Amino acid sequence: MSTLVLVGTQWGDEGKGKVTDVLSESADVVVRYQGGTNAGHTVVVGGERFALRQVPSGILHGKDCVIGNGVVFDPGRFLEEIAELARRGLDVSRVRISDAAHVIFPYHLRIDQMGEDRLGPARIGTTRLGIGPAYMDKVARTGIRVGDLFRPEYFRRRLAQALTRANERLEREFGSPGFHLEQLLAEYEGYARRLEPFVTDTVAFLNEAIDAGRRVLFEGAQGTMLDLDHGTYPYVTSSYPTAGGACLGSGVAPTRIDGVLGVAKAYTSRVGDGPFPTELTDETGETIRERGREYGTATGRPRRCGWLDAVVLRHSALVSGLGGLALNHLDTLTGLHPLKIAAAYELDGRVTERLPRQVDDLARARPIYEELPGWDEPVEEARSFEELPEGARRYVEAVERLSGVPVVMISVGPEREQTFARRDPFQMTRETARRKA
Ligand code: IMP
Repeated sequence: MSTLVLVGTQWGDEGKGKVTDVLSESADVVVRYQGGTNAGHTVVVGGERFALRQVPSGILHGKDCVIGNGVVFDPGRFLEEIAELARRGLDVSRVRISDAAHVIFPYHLRIDQMGEDRLGPARIGTTRLGIGPAYMDKVARTGIRVGDLFRPEYFRRRLAQALTRANERLEREFGSPGFHLEQLLAEYEGYARRLEPFVTDTVAFLNEAIDAGRRVLFEGAQGTMLDLDHGTYPYVTSSYPTAGGACLGSGVAPTRIDGVLGVAKAYTSRVGDGPFPTELTDETGETIRERGREYGTATGRPRRCGWLDAVVLRHSALVSGLGGLALNHLDTLTGLHPLKIAAAYELDGRVTERLPRQVDDLARARPIYEELPGWDEPVEEARSFEELPEGARRYVEAVERLSGVPVVMISVGPEREQTFARRDPFQMTRETARRKA
C-alpha cells in the first residue's frame, strides 16, 4: 500500500497532526488537501511544541510536503510559519504549494468576521480566518489562484474584479471601508516573489510520486462532522474533510487511494456552534477540557467537550470507508467512572442508530449510552495494547464494537513515543474497509 488518507472522524481536533507525525516516518510525501489556516495541528517533539497551520506535519520529519489545490492558502501566514520552522532548524525547502490552490486576501477575513458578528446568536462560530469567503470566491469563479500571482497583468485584472465585489459588499452590507487595489497588489506581489520557489504543479508531482512507488500520506484537516456535505450543515466548514476530499483536493484519483485511517479522540470535542449530542456542560466536561488541554490552536477558544459518540464514528466510517481508527487521548479518561459511549440516539421517542441528517433533529437527539467501568491506573507509559490496564482495553474494545472499525493505533499522551500501532496503518487493505462498511 502506498497511499493512505487520514481523516478526522469527529468535529476536528482529533489529534491528526500527531498521528500524521508518527506515520510520516514511514511516508515519503505528506499532503494537505483542504481547509487552510483554520486548521491547527499541534505536535510535540522532544518536549518542543510545534503549532502548524498550513504546512503538513511531515515537515517535522524532513519529508516532501504538499499544500494541495483543495486548500485555501494564506501567503502571509504561510511565510511566517515557514520562517518560524526554519528558525527552529527545520528544512523547509521540500514544501510544495499547488499553483491551483486559492488565495486568501484580507477582505476574506473581514467579510468572515463581519458576517459572523452580524449573525449574532445564529453565527457558525467560524475561525474568522476568511476560509468560507475564500471558498465562496472559488465556487463563484471570482477567486484568485496561487499561479495567478505570477502573471502580473492577469493578477491585476482578476484582483480588480474581485476587489470591486468585495468592497461593494463591505461598504454596502457592513458599512465597513474597503481595501485599496494598489496596496493589495504591492503586498501580494511581494509575497509572490518569496513564494516562487515553493509553487509547482502538485498534481503531476503527486502522481509521479505514486508511480515511483513512494508512500503518500494525505493529511486531512477538520473532521467529518464539519464536512460541507456530510457534516452538521450549516455548522460546518466550507471544504471536504472526508476521504473523497483527498482526491478532489490533490488531483489523485480514487482508484489510486489504498486505505483510509480515521482519527478519533477517546471522547469528543467541538469548537464553534452547532449541535453536539454528547456534550457535557458539567464538571466532567470541565475535567476533560483541562486534562485534554482542549483549547483551539487556531483561535485559543475553549473547546466544548463530551463523551465519545459511536453514532458519529459509524457515520464517519460510512462516508469515508474507514479501514482503521487511531484512538487518541486515552490518558485523558483515566480516573473517570463510569465512562460513557453513545451507542444510539433517541429521537422523538424512537431509537435510531444512524446520524439524523437535519441539524434540528440532531439538536433534539438524546444519546443512549453504554457505560464502561473505566480505569484508575496511569496509561502514559503503555507502549502496546497488552500493557494497558484492563479497563482501558475494555474501553478500546467497546469503541471497536460500537464503531465497527478496528482500532489500529492508540495514543496515551502528547509525545511522539506515546503513540503505538497495533497494525501498520499503511498495511490496512481495502477489504477491511469493505467488510466493515
Ligand atoms: P471555518 O472553517 O473557519 O469557516 O469555521 C467553520 C466551522 O468549522 C466552525 O465551527 C469552526 O470552529 C470549525 N473549524 C474550522 N477549523 C477547525 C479545526 O481545525 N478544528 C476544529 N474546528 C474547526
